Amino acid sequence: MSFPVRRHRRLRSSATLRNMVRETSLSVNDLIYPIFVAEGSNIREEIPSMPGIYHWSLDRLEEELREVTKLGIPAILLFGVPAEKDECGTSAHMESGIVQRAIRLIKEKAPHLLVVADTCLCQFTDHGHCGVVEQHEHKEATVDNDASLELLVKTAVSQAQAGADIIAPSNMMDGFVQAIRSGLDEAGFESVPILSYAVKYASAFYGPFRDAAHSSPQFGDRRTYQMDPGNAREALREAESDVVEGADMLMVKPGLAYLDIVRMLKDQFDLPVAVYNVSAEYAMVKAAAANGWIDEKAVILETMTAFKRAGADLILTYFAKDVARFLREPS
Ligand code: PBG
Ligand code: ZN
Repeated sequence: MSFPVRRHRRLRSSATLRNMVRETSLSVNDLIYPIFVAEGSNIREEIPSMPGIYHWSLDRLEEELREVTKLGIPAILLFGVPAEKDECGTSAHMESGIVQRAIRLIKEKAPHLLVVADTCLCQFTDHGHCGVVEQHEHKEATVDNDASLELLVKTAVSQAQAGADIIAPSNMMDGFVQAIRSGLDEAGFESVPILSYAVKYASAFYGPFRDAAHSSPQFGDRRTYQMDPGNAREALREAESDVVEGADMLMVKPGLAYLDIVRMLKDQFDLPVAVYNVSAEYAMVKAAAANGWIDEKAVILETMTAFKRAGADLILTYFAKDVARFLREPS
């Protein structure tokens, strides 16, 4: 009799064998790359807390589209930085809105690129909340759920009219999937899928994004509509609602601190699951890498592998271009 009886190391003995038995694979087809489009001209302005990520004005956007296309990234997620904001986020649903014009341009210049439109109001409202605000006499203002739905539907329909391939509502109002689904259907867009930000936590990991999108709430916070980080079972209720209301895909956001939730949704529902690797997750890696404290490529690829292993089918990530490049290099 010889020990140990089980030798797990046998399957780790060469790179070739490891590659053959690996349970998780990562492909460029898993990636969605977020892009910020801004009003103005000749703008390619780096976001300080997100090195390598820029605000693009429409006259220069083609440079970015060309690179994304060259790298074989199949889809982008659009965020708008408007020139004007008001109480109701009117510029979110105008035909001449920054996002609507960007979508038309992209569909003209890079028609094969799948355009995912983020449907929310926070970049477009002067108070920075994801819906319309209701004032009360003796307590702090709140976000009015049902009044917000109407504007979100208008926004989604205007994005579909501009040519968006997928609508991705991130506002966390109750009933938003059903409202947007029927709005799209009535407008003749019954074939446009909804990627729902189904489980979105009130997270400190959105910090750099809010600087980038100028979308910080001007009073209070988002805890009355985004989820409490301590809750997992509630994520099932959130996702269940969206499934019933007609979501085609479910998203979990943020990513790394919520891999248990990704796994739960994957096991509980039969829809594709997306994970959003958010701005601070990006910023932390870039900052450590700039200091020489980590091996950036290895950390990024390990992170992406973790998302896939947890059950994500799609990954929204600011690293998409980096990942696409790494996947082309000999490992
Ligand atoms: C708002 C929105 C947020 C992000 C995308 N859309 C977060 C928020 O401010 O609540 C975060 C993205 C990121 O941090 O990368 N609807
Ligand atoms: Zn929002």
